[in-house]
Parts: sequence; C-alpha cells; structure tokens
Amino acid sequence: MAKHPLPTTGTGMGKKAAGSPPATFPSEATVAPKQSLSITDNRTGKTYEIPVKDGTIHATDLRQIKTDPEDFGLMSYDPAFNNTASCRSAITFIDGDKGILRYRGYPIEQLAERGTFLETAYLIVHGELPTTAQLDEWTHNITHHTFIHENILKLMDGFRYDAHPMGVFVSTVAALSTFYPEANQIRNPEVRYRQMVRLIAKSPTLAAFAYRHSTGMPYAYPDNDLSYSGNVLNMMFKTTEAKYQPNKMLEHALDVLFILHADHEQNCSANAMRSVGSSEVDPYSAMAAAAAALYGPLHGGANEQVLRMLGEIGSMKNIPDYIKRVKTKEVKLMGFGHRIYKNYDPRAKIIKQVADEVFEVTGKNPLLEMAVELERIALQDDYFVSHKLYPNVDFYSGIIYEALRFPVAMFPVLFAIGRTPGWLAQWQELLTDPEQKIARPRQVYVGSEKRDYVPIEKRR
Ligand code: ACO
Repeated sequence: MAKHPLPTTGTGMGKKAAGSPPATFPSEATVAPKQSLSITDNRTGKTYEIPVKDGTIHATDLRQIKTDPEDFGLMSYDPAFNNTASCRSAITFIDGDKGILRYRGYPIEQLAERGTFLETAYLIVHGELPTTAQLDEWTHNITHHTFIHENILKLMDGFRYDAHPMGVFVSTVAALSTFYPEANQIRNPEVRYRQMVRLIAKSPTLAAFAYRHSTGMPYAYPDNDLSYSGNVLNMMFKTTEAKYQPNKMLEHALDVLFILHADHEQNCSANAMRSVGSSEVDPYSAMAAAAAALYGPLHGGANEQVLRMLGEIGSMKNIPDYIKRVKTKEVKLMGFGHRIYKNYDPRAKIIKQVADEVFEVTGKNPLLEMAVELERIALQDDYFVSHKLYPNVDFYSGIIYEALRFPVAMFPVLFAIGRTPGWLAQWQELLTDPEQKIARPRQVYVGSEKRDYVPIEKRR
C-alpha cells in the first residue's frame, strides 16, 4: 500500500487572516488589548493573570488559584463538556448559530454537490483533496481491502437471528483487532495508515453482513467493480442476479448521505474515539467504542427513533397532540435539537433535496409528508422557536434510508459507515498532537467522609 501524505499536527484553529496593519502616525497608534484574563479570588483577595489563546483559557492555569498552599487549586466543573474544548482540531468547522459546516475548510454543500464519499474520506483523513492519481490509488486501496476474514462470519453466525445489527457491528469491529495484532503499533504511521484503510474498506462489509445475518440471507461478497456506495447496495440487496447493478440515482443518494455523516467535530462518538484511543489501544477497539456511543438514541440512534416516532404518531391528524406531549416534556421530538446547532442543521437542508431525488425513483413515502408537516408546525411554535430547536441530520435521513429499503435497525449502522473516516481522522489527530495524553477528567467528590469498616452482623 503506497504512502499518502498525511497532515501533521498544525491545526488551523483560531488563525486569523494575515494582513498588514494600517499605516498610522505614532500619536494615533492604539495599544493592542492584552490577551489575558485578570481574576480576583474573593476568598483570598489575590489577583491572577491568565493568558487567553484562541478564545480559551487553559484549565490547568486555574490550578495556581489556591486558598492556601495545601489547597489543590481551582478546577472548572463542566459536566457533559458544555463549554470545554478538549483539543485543537483542523478537521471540521461548525458555526452552530449560522448553520455552517465545513470539512477541512470546504463547505458541506459543495462537497455534497460535487464530491464523492471516497474523495471526502481522503480529504478528511489527509487534510487535502486528492489529485486524480491520489484518488485512484486511495480508491484502489479501499476497494481491495473490503473482504473480511471468514472467521468473522462464524462470529456473526453466533448472534441470535434478531440481534440488532448495530450490536453486531460494534462487536465485529472490535473483533477485527484480533485479526490484525500489529494494529497496536499506533505510533507507526504506516501501520496506522493501513488500519485506517482497512476500517474504511471493511465497515460496509461488516454492516451488510450483519444485515444479511438478521434476514437469514446468504452473505453477498464485495464486488470490486462497483463504487463504494454501489457496493454497499450490492452487499445488502443482491439476491440471485449474476451481477448486481445498483440504481445510479440511489447509489448517488447514499453516497451523499455518507458525505454528510463523515465527520462532525467533537460529538459524543468522536469524543469516545479520542478518549479510548488516548489509552493507546488499537484503532479497532477505539472505533468499537465510538460506534457504541453512536448507537445511543440521543446520538446516531436518533434516525431510528424518528421512524419509530412517526409510526407512533400514525397520521397527520395526530401531530398537534404529539407536539403538545413534546411541550409538556412527556416525549422528545426525535431528530430535533442539537448541542451545537441553534439554527437549521445544514445537513438536514441537503438531505431534503436528496429525498426528492430518491422519491423520484422509489415513489413518495407517506412518512415524508408527515415529517414535513411536523417540521412546519414545530418551527412555528413558541416552544421550538424559544428553545432554538430545528431538525437535525437524523430527522430526514431515516425517511430516505427507508425509501432505499433499509430496515430501521440498519439506520445507525449506515451512519457508522459514513462516520468511519471522521473517527479515524480524529484518532490520528489525537495521536499526532503533542499536547494530548491519556484522557482523564477530574471529579468533584461528593461521597462519604472517611469511615470505618463495620462487621456485617453489626450493620443495620
Ligand atoms: N424535543 C423537545 N425538547 C427538546 C429537544 C427535543 N428533541 N431537544 C432539546 N429539547 C429541550 C430540552 O428539554 C431543554 O428544555 P429546557 O431548557 O426547557 O429544560 C432544552 O431544549 C435544551 O435541551 P438539552 O437537552 O439541554 O440540549 P442538549 O444540547 O444537551 O441536547 C440533544 C442535544 C441530545 C441532541 C437533544 O436536542 C435531543 O435529545 N434531541 C433528540 C435526539 C436527537 O435527535 N439526537 C440526534 C442529534 S444529532 C446527532 O447526534 C447525529
């Protein structure tokens, strides 16, 4: 496998455009504001100056703030990382208020309209769009690593017929680490690169085989003549035909969905990938953890929940009642809301366009009309407006997946296929960042003071 240039540690975060300062006479020159924060500790009356860099303070700078020499020093308390940057990253930029998403600087709209998933995966992993020769080689490498060891199939056969395919996916990704023991050489760039190629190549195979297992269908092996997304359709849906020919429109729609899911900066699963990867475990184990995080209904499992919710609502006439239940917090409107986006998720906008493309081929899905109506009512409602709740990527993606004939349980697995390059790029960035080490948050201990062991017969 030939080497490709990989990005080094330099992150673009916080960089301002360089430019010459305007000419001024000495008397007019203004003093640049100090890039620091003055903190007065009212407990001691002492004042500290803490540097500000890229709009952040370094949390460990707070440790100098003590009430006495014995004091541990001040910490910040931030459950769920609401306002804590855990890394410097040059992969994905999001402006949640403006609804902007860019991979390596390229707007998601342009990549979705003009790029392909493998090209986007190359961009995310390497930092730059590939030349024709680089893309050919990358495509060749990914295409020729799609097969999995036959023993993985035996492992798969051990799952019950009704095993959730995401559970099977998480387990088989983890199992891959036992087939590639060299993968634990995480400091070796060539070894690292090989595992990244393998994971991007094999994720669809594991995903499709998990699906075939759940339906009792024989496994359909990868077809190297097909595109990445065409091959996903082949491995999922091939039956008796000698050669599966994916519908070009549906193949393109799936490719766009993969592009939209390819990375999303420090979300729950990327954070899991980084946190577990920071222990220097192999990437298969770290990615199994990331996929497990994605499985949850508040993250990548939400697309599955949207479909179940639409099924529960049942018909247009029940929408107002459902909205009422959301407002009394009896239920959540799945596929709405986001930690970062307080505006329309740009991916949801693109997905709506893809939906039109898909429905031209498959015919209209009645669930789409219900989703559009649900969105229309929600976006006019005070509760949603005041909470800044807009549709996220999961609101419409499930409806498209359903139109493509994927069963609901496969939705988070499809999300995982698209997210694989993002997880790997986050993992690589972590490992090549000299500021990073094993992730280990602090805690505020609120348990018992020291107490003595009580023999069992004396306990009440
Ligand atoms: N339906 C109804 N109310 C909601 C929703 C929702 N989907 N999302 C948030 N809210 C409300 C909360 O009840 C809370 O209200 P309050 O301030 O009156 O108590 C307020 O909005 C803020 O919500 P939080 O839960 O604090 O927001 P947070 O940033 O922690 O959560 C999350 C974000 C988990 C995505 C949340 O919006 C949610 O649960 N959405 C539904 C699940 C979903 O669609 N997840 C997919 C996200 S995209 C992805 O992971 C790929």
